[in-house]
Amino acid sequence: MDTYDRMTAPTRLDIDEEYSELSLRPRRLSEYIGQKNVTENLKVFIDAAQLRGEPLDHVLFYGPPGLGKTTLAGIIANEMDADLRITSGPAIEKAGDLVAILSNLNYKDVLFIDEIHRLNRAVEEVLYSAMEDFAIDFIVGKGPSARSLRMSLDKFTLVGATTRAGSLSAPLRDRFGVVSKFEMYKPEELRLIIKRSAETLNVQIDDESQAELALRSRGTPRVANRLLKRVRDFCQVKGSGAINIDITRHTLDSLGIDGLGLEAIDRAILDLIIQRFSGGPVGIDTIAAATGEERVTIEDVYEPYMIQAGLLHRTQKGRIVSDKAYLHLGLPVPESAAAFQTSIFAPEDEAAHEREDCNE
Ligand SMILES: Nc1ncnc2c1ncn2[C@@H]1O[C@H](COP(=O)(O)OP(=O)(O)O)[C@@H](O)[C@H]1O
Ligand SMILES: [Mg+2]
Repeated sequence: MDTYDRMTAPTRLDIDEEYSELSLRPRRLSEYIGQKNVTENLKVFIDAAQLRGEPLDHVLFYGPPGLGKTTLAGIIANEMDADLRITSGPAIEKAGDLVAILSNLNYKDVLFIDEIHRLNRAVEEVLYSAMEDFAIDFIVGKGPSARSLRMSLDKFTLVGATTRAGSLSAPLRDRFGVVSKFEMYKPEELRLIIKRSAETLNVQIDDESQAELALRSRGTPRVANRLLKRVRDFCQVKGSGAINIDITRHTLDSLGIDGLGLEAIDRAILDLIIQRFSGGPVGIDTIAAATGEERVTIEDVYEPYMIQAGLLHRTQKGRIVSDKAYLHLGLPVPESAAAFQTSIFAPEDEAAHEREDCNE
C-alpha cells in the first residue's frame, strides 16, 4: 500500500508533509470533531483514570486509514499529561527492540503502536506480559543452570491502531481494556474539519465550498485536508482571495475526483464488475487480478468508502454493485439487477463479513 499515491488515498502520502499534517491535528479532545462513539466513552475513562491518578487502560483503535487514530492517540497523551512514544508493528523487528522501548517508558506514558497487527510473534509475546503484568521475563543461561528473570516496568498505556481488527491474535486483542471502532465521517463533520483546517492554514473558504469538499472527501479527514490544500493552491495561482465554489469544482475536476469522491481506479473497479461480471457477485481475488491491484489495497483502501457510499456490497458469494453504481457511471440499471440484489444481499452479510474478519 506504500507505493500507492493517488489524490484521495486515505493513507499518508509524501505530499502530506509530516509537519503540516501535524499542525492540522487537534491536540485536545474538545477540538476533535465527530467519532462520538469513540470519544464520549474515552472521555469518561480518561477522567476517571486522572481522578485516580493512574494510567489509562490499554486502548485499541481499529478502522480504515485516515480517520484520526494517530491523532486520538496523541490527544490521549495530552489529556493524561503524559509523554507519547510512537512506533509501528513493522518497525519493531526483534523482541529486544521492544524491550528497549518499554524499559524507557515512564509511569503513565502512552506508547502508540501503529499497524499493531503486523508485529511478529516473538515481539508480540513480550508485549503480553508487558501489558498484563508490566513486566518482562527473560531466560538467562542454558540447560540445567537456566534461570528465569523478571524485569518490572513502569505502568504505561498502550494504544494500538490497526486497519484490520481481524488480523489481531486473540491473546493480544483480549489484553486491551478499551476497543473502539472508527467510522467514516458524515459530510457535516467533515465540513467542520475543513473549516477548522482552513482557519489553521489561514485560508478563506466559503460554506458552499466547504460542503462540496466534504462530499468529495470519501468520509476521511486526511483526504479532506489534502483536497483543501490543493484547492488552496489553485486559488493562489488564480490570484483570487477566498476559495469559492468555482475554484473548488475546477480543482476537483482537474484532479479527476468526481461528485462522490471517486477516482479513475474506483470507477474502473465498478465498471469491471458491471461489464465483465454482470454486476457480480465476483470474488475479491478476481477483482484484484483483473485490476492489477493488491487484494489488501482493494479491501482496505478502495472498498470501505464504496461500501459506505452504497455503491458496492460484500456478500458471502462476492462483491456486487448496487443500482447506485450503474447510475453513478451513467449506465442503464439492468431490470434483473434490483430483484437479484434484494434476493442475495441481506443486511446481515456485512455483519457476517466483520465476524469473519474478526475470527481470521
Ligand atoms: N476528528 C478529527 N478532527 C479533526 N481533524 C482530524 C480528525 N481526525 C483526523 N483528522 C485529521 O486527519 C489527518 C489524518 O488523521 P490520522 O490520525 O493520521 O489518521 P489515522 O491514524 O487513522 O490514519 C490528521 O492530519 C488530522 O489532521
Ligand atoms: Mg495513523
